[in-house]
Amino acid sequence: MTQDELKRLVGEAALDHVRPDSIIGVGTGSTVNCFIDALTRSKVRVEAAVSSSEATTRLLQTGGIRVIDLNQTGGLDVYIDGADEFDPHRRLIKGGGGALTREKIIAAGSSKFVCIADQSKQVKVLGAFPLPIEVIPLARSLVARKMAALGGQPIWREGFTTDNGNWILDIHNLDLVDPTGMEKTINELTGVVTCGIFALRPADLVLVATEHGIKQF
Ligand code: 5RP
Repeated sequence: MTQDELKRLVGEAALDHVRPDSIIGVGTGSTVNCFIDALTRSKVRVEAAVSSSEATTRLLQTGGIRVIDLNQTGGLDVYIDGADEFDPHRRLIKGGGGALTREKIIAAGSSKFVCIADQSKQVKVLGAFPLPIEVIPLARSLVARKMAALGGQPIWREGFTTDNGNWILDIHNLDLVDPTGMEKTINELTGVVTCGIFALRPADLVLVATEHGIKQF
C-alpha cells in the first residue's frame, strides 16, 4: 500500500469515533484531509466542527460541515488529528503543517484525542522529526539562541506565517528522551507561543494504518 492509501484507510477508520450529531474537533494535515473526505462522503452527520486551521476550515465548509468557534462549544467529545511522530506512550510531535497552537488548544478542550497516522510516523523515542515551535516574531532570534543552548539546531521556517500571525522555528537534533520535561521547559521560554511536543496532553488513542490493517493502542 502507498502512504496515501494508508492515510485514506486511517481517515476512514476515524469515523468510528465520531458520535452522530456531536460537535467534533478537527486537526490539520493530509491525513486529516482524508478523514474530512471520508466524513463528508459518509452517512455520519455532525452538528458542527471546531477547526484547527484556516485550511481545515475551508475543507470542512466545502464539504458542507458547519465550523464554529471553540468559545461557543464548551468541551468537545472528540478531537481527531494527525501527527508527525508518535511514541509508544501516545506522545506526539506535531506542527509540521504549522497549526500546532490551535491543535494543542482544541486537544486540551476535548475529552478524547484520537490521533490518526500511518506507520511511518511511529518511533520509539520522539525527536527525529524537527520540533516545530511557534514564536512571536519579535522573539525569533531570542528563542533560537535559547534552543541552541538546550542542544538543538534551530532553523527558521522562512516565508511561513501561522494562522495566528506568528513564525515557526524547526529545532533539529533536540534530545527528547524526557518529552514532558522538555515541553514544559520550552513553553516557559519568553516569546514562545507553544511547542509541538504533545506529551502533557498526549493522544488518548492512536489509530495506525499498516499494510495489515488498522492497529490501535
Ligand atoms: C499540522 C500537524 C499535522 O498533524 C502533522 O504535520 C501531520 O500531517 P500529515 O497528516 O500531513 O502527515 O501537526 O500542524
